[in-house]
Amino acid sequence: MVQIKPFKVEEWMDKFETTPGVVNVAETCPSMTCLEGERLSAEDVIITQGAIGANFLTLYTLLGPGDHVVCVYPTYQQLYDVPRSLGADVSLWKLRTEDGFVPDVEEMEILIKENTKAHLGERAPIPTNTLHSIAKVAQVRGIILFSDEVYRLFSTAELRGSAMCRHRQRHLGYKRTVVTGFMSKGFALAGIRVGWVATKDKTILLDIASARDYNTISVSQVDDQIASYALSPAVQEPLVARNMALARTNAKLLKHFVDDHDSICSWVEPKAGTTAFIQFKSNGEPVNDVDFCMDLLEKTKVFFCPGSHCFGDDQDFAGYVRVGYVCQTQVLETGLKKLEGYIQSFLS
Ligand SMILES: Cc1ncc(COP(=O)(O)O)c(C=O)c1O
Repeated sequence: MVQIKPFKVEEWMDKFETTPGVVNVAETCPSMTCLEGERLSAEDVIITQGAIGANFLTLYTLLGPGDHVVCVYPTYQQLYDVPRSLGADVSLWKLRTEDGFVPDVEEMEILIKENTKAHLGERAPIPTNTLHSIAKVAQVRGIILFSDEVYRLFSTAELRGSAMCRHRQRHLGYKRTVVTGFMSKGFALAGIRVGWVATKDKTILLDIASARDYNTISVSQVDDQIASYALSPAVQEPLVARNMALARTNAKLLKHFVDDHDSICSWVEPKAGTTAFIQFKSNGEPVNDVDFCMDLLEKTKVFFCPGSHCFGDDQDFAGYVRVGYVCQTQVLETGLKKLEGYIQSFLS
């Protein structure tokens, strides 16, 4: 855990001032987090510069030499490489294609050590019943449950069209849960840099707030105003509905594409989120995904992220690429046509 003294001047000023606007978002965004069971209030939330800022601040505050964490893998690299950079010992809890990338909770128990401080992962790709099992293990073993929730709005229920599910208070039932969220994915507002950390655990929250004094005086008030507007009831519902509709429509198009090219493409069909992890093969062998992405980009201007390089430490996930598919539907259609032309010319 970070050993840093309170930043005296920032702490002092915080007692007497309120950054205009920030409270609006802090009051509205708790309803967007998943700490169900107990209602969150503005006091349970710390506003940050994006989810990447929220993740960094939380990991920086909580972890250090002597700590051990279990981190779901593959995931956003920040979740395991920041703890490593802070001197923490990281065990990767590896997801397998044959299990549909659903984590096996028994393996988590095996990975937990005496000094395990936290479980780290993302929310959207993990089924709710598995999340509950993870929360139970975390509670029994007394470890912090950290969940990056940027994709939570794109959950399975939401994509099935149950528009109110994000407001439902489901119960993970564990106080030492810390979640981070942002205006980027579900609200399609990645251009503004407003994110948050939320927890019901006051000790954790105060530690994070104290560390925050060293890297965030406030978020941009302009960004904050836009976030407050987007989260207002009249705007939030149609904005999220638009993004969910795009996700549903585009997921179907992508599925058709993968089904139509099943000798070249294989995947675990995503049930949540906005990205797919697709393996491409040529002559029955996984392509070199880095070369494939570069060549595809050069020849067609279609952009994918190579899986082995971006998510597999240049070792795992050969032939996989990450495809972001929740763009304008017409853009996806054009991209898939170009990809089809490329496949026909260069892969067999
Ligand atoms: C899982 C996950 N967490 C956090 C982030 C950070 O994003 P931002 O701060 O732009 O929301 C990203 C960005 O793609 C992400 O995929």
